[in-house]
Amino acid sequence: MKLWGGRFEKSTDALVEDFHSSISFDQRLYKQDIQGSIAHARMLGEIGVLTPAEAQQIIEGLKGILTDIREGKIQFEIGAEDIHMNVEKLLTERVGTVGKKVHTGRSRNDQVALDLRLFLREEIDHTQELLITLLRTVLNLAKEHQETYMPGYTHLQKAQPISFAHHMMAYAQMFLRDLGRLKDTRKRLNVSPLGSGALAGTTFPLEREMVAQELGFDGITWNSLDGVSDRDFALEFLSAASILMMHLSRLCEELVLWSTGEFQFVIMDDGYSTGSSIMPQKKNPDVAELVRGKTGRVYGDLIALLTVMKGLPLAYNKDMQEDKEQVFDAVDTIQKSLLVVEPMLRTMKVNKKAMAEGAKGGFTNATDLADYLAKKNVPFREAHEIVGKLVLYCSKRGCGLEDLTLKEFQEHSDVFAEDLFESIGIEYCVRQRHIPGGPSPESVAQAILWTEHILEQF
Ligand code: ARG
Repeated sequence: MKLWGGRFEKSTDALVEDFHSSISFDQRLYKQDIQGSIAHARMLGEIGVLTPAEAQQIIEGLKGILTDIREGKIQFEIGAEDIHMNVEKLLTERVGTVGKKVHTGRSRNDQVALDLRLFLREEIDHTQELLITLLRTVLNLAKEHQETYMPGYTHLQKAQPISFAHHMMAYAQMFLRDLGRLKDTRKRLNVSPLGSGALAGTTFPLEREMVAQELGFDGITWNSLDGVSDRDFALEFLSAASILMMHLSRLCEELVLWSTGEFQFVIMDDGYSTGSSIMPQKKNPDVAELVRGKTGRVYGDLIALLTVMKGLPLAYNKDMQEDKEQVFDAVDTIQKSLLVVEPMLRTMKVNKKAMAEGAKGGFTNATDLADYLAKKNVPFREAHEIVGKLVLYCSKRGCGLEDLTLKEFQEHSDVFAEDLFESIGIEYCVRQRHIPGGPSPESVAQAILWTEHILEQF
């Protein structure tokens, strides 16, 4: 017998039973569902819709169900559709008719909106913890490598020398913004929809604030239609998760590239690499690749839910049951990814020598040579032209700028003097970029301090 069976003459088709049931996945919300029902029942008792004894019976019954689910003693029923009706059915089986009163002034529509908000709030907190751990590892790498020089790239062509610390600090900024996005999502998410009913509130004088407070919300939703039909909070989470995955994916892409024989900038720890079933010599950065690949899943989750929501008339529609698997999948994917990227990064070896070697080639000091001329009053565009010619001259001879004689420099411009050689040394090039946000060791140290300061707010 269905909890809603009164107006039906026939039972649900067996195919439909299976098709529309969500218990196989929404059982993951059991804790939040029971938490919500306990707060609702307690409030019904306070306002006199239930007697204190009835409220107490319901609360005790719900607590017992919570323990039994935790201990794996409960077999959920597909026939009871979802977690909400499974719990209600169990309650009535345990405490009798009074259990049938728990749903007074409530609908599954506001119930499920509540459960998902409670669930996401917890998962956002946990995700933030994982992200902070990763960010601290990134900061530690930056602290260690302020004088580890490497080439910076644009178009994946060598551009200007930087330090490995500076490169890591770029990711620190990304992760800091990810933390901000999660915090922001949590703030908007943290209001209680309970009391919205099916769509039009309820005739019972529910104390919405009381329930909201008990459940740790900052307030309540202010439109009952929106209360049950809004999934912005899930979409905001999925957006933040997608951007976070994009950052992880870019980092992983660089690790894949850097661990190639051609680069050899890093050596991944054996624990985070795998071999080949045929090629005995192989050591592949599979973990980094898989994180890059899993980014697609999270984007998929976001696009799926955006698409589910886009054509829905107000208020609740069954389509919205499709929100949960996307949210669960994204939560699992970002948490597992964060969990594995942190130690992968922490245990990898940084090949300072290969990085420093790489920083030297490819005329990474050409801008600095142009700057040298510009500082001696040559208009920058002319300086650019002169250095361009010098680069061409070197390319034809297969050497670098630092390999030329003063005479060869002076054949291109008489502004050049002996001090030019200092200005094109790789370390000097980096040190001179001591602008805030720049790659010089002192600028990076400043950025680390600033980042640590912002991190204290989380
Ligand atoms: N299982 C449903 C969901 O996840 C719960 C709400 C169902 N409400 C309804 N009126 N059918 O969205």
